[in-house]
Amino acid sequence: MSRHRTVERDATAASTSRPDGRREGPGLRRGARGQPPATGRAQSPASGGSATRRILVVDDEKDAADELAAILRQDGYLVETVGSAEEALQRFSVETYHVLITDLLLPGKSGVELTRQVHEACPGCAIVLITGHATVKTAVAALKRGAADYIRKPVQPRLLRERVQALLEMQPDYLPNRLLARSSEMRLEGMVARSRVMQNVFDKIRLAAQSDATVLVTGESGTGKELVARAIHNLSARAGGPFVAVHTGAIPRDLIASELFGHERGSFTGAIERKEGKFELAEGGTIFLDEISTMDERTQINLLRILETFAYMRIGGKRERRADVRVVAATNRDLAHMVAQGTFREDLYYRLNILQIALPPLRERREDIPVLAHEFIAHFAAQYRKPLLSMPPETQRLLESYPWPGNIRELRNVIEQAVLLARSRQLEPELLPQMIFRSGPSEEVIRIPLGWTMREAEKEIILRTLQFKDGNKKITAQVLGISRRSLYNKLAEYEQPLQSRHQDHESRRSLS
Ligand SMILES: Nc1ncnc2c1ncn2[C@@H]1O[C@H](COP(=O)(O)OP(=O)(O)OP(=O)(O)O)[C@@H](O)[C@H]1O
Ligand SMILES: [Mg+2]
Repeated sequence: MSRHRTVERDATAASTSRPDGRREGPGLRRGARGQPPATGRAQSPASGGSATRRILVVDDEKDAADELAAILRQDGYLVETVGSAEEALQRFSVETYHVLITDLLLPGKSGVELTRQVHEACPGCAIVLITGHATVKTAVAALKRGAADYIRKPVQPRLLRERVQALLEMQPDYLPNRLLARSSEMRLEGMVARSRVMQNVFDKIRLAAQSDATVLVTGESGTGKELVARAIHNLSARAGGPFVAVHTGAIPRDLIASELFGHERGSFTGAIERKEGKFELAEGGTIFLDEISTMDERTQINLLRILETFAYMRIGGKRERRADVRVVAATNRDLAHMVAQGTFREDLYYRLNILQIALPPLRERREDIPVLAHEFIAHFAAQYRKPLLSMPPETQRLLESYPWPGNIRELRNVIEQAVLLARSRQLEPELLPQMIFRSGPSEEVIRIPLGWTMREAEKEIILRTLQFKDGNKKITAQVLGISRRSLYNKLAEYEQPLQSRHQDHESRRSLS
């Protein structure tokens, strides 16, 4: 509803242009320990705290909102835009923003009313109003209701960035937000979750971190076993020492022992040099033995010995070594079953299984799907410098109903792809891969009796799929692998009165 130009002309010229046409801003730092950050971290001095600063821009003029967002993204902030006060409040119910930038004149609820409500629910959030000349008086009224600042149109990009930066510098670390409905979200060492089972897992991780006991982490592929092992290490007294991951399953069986314990020169064919084993490299820290089920009998015996006596020898070595290493092992196989079958040593199983942390598959903790998806959206938005996408209910429903055979890793990949492909500010369902559309409750089947014509069968498939997808034609067309135009044509055909169809049929028959 702004009658003035929102951003001063040539606004974008204020930023440095790159040959590839992308604007340059301070880069996003990698997280500690060389891992990508769970959420990006802006290098801007404005970023003060440890997490990426989120900004919500409210303007019913989409172009104006996008321009403001583009300016702020140069400083590495995660910026979202919405077109009304109502949408802004809805966003505050799922996310906390450090800065709210709102046009004063909005359709429906005004910027002043929005200011009042956001200030009341989230007093730490810095609210900046964008105002035309005629509305300065109202802006002053808004300042009384909790706004921190106002900027007149046309907005000078440099001024906007400076004001936002100054406001963020004054901001407390923790922003309470009474509108936030996601209060049950939990975080631990890069992991996010919301389900009760994961609450238990987090409790066990904290407990495990207090001792040096061996831990066995079980769970299907992609459920987060390695992340759990890292969390135990990072929270333990050994955090200052190394964390060494050994992907046992990827090492040829006959080399595992030398990989773990090292070897002396000439101890076997191919042992040209003396080699330190992973246990030596993990000294003072934690060793993570991934896919423990693949170890051969001899390695199992050696490992058992280490766990019992902390003593081991390099292959071909004469000197006994002492290991000051905490062992965390993982498997996606049923070790108890392997013990019963005689393919895994029972004594080693009991030794490893002192404290077991079982990670349930994602399909058994669907409450975690939205929080994980939001987490990955923020992560990849920061990594690829894309806008922070919001998630429409249809997308969330699809994500929640898919069985995720590849668990969290698969969800992460799907979100990464969607963020890369997105052209709007929303994670539209079309950005998801086909297999997610195809899945549905298993009892949803279409019965086609023998003797039906192709036409009847096709009609049944189309109408039932449309019903299954809640009447959404766009998604129905995608699921069926046909264009939207042909879907519309088919539906129009089915709606033709019986009479004309009959005539049509008759006329075609007379032709043949
Ligand atoms: N609770 C979580 N919160 C956020 N990210 C997670 C969580 N759990 C797992 N991830 C992410 O999912 C991916 C898979 O996790 P991880 O590699 O730990 O699984 P895994 O069980 O070791 O898999 P595999 O059996 O295939 O080795 C990683 O990118 C990890 O960061
Ligand atoms: Mg793993």
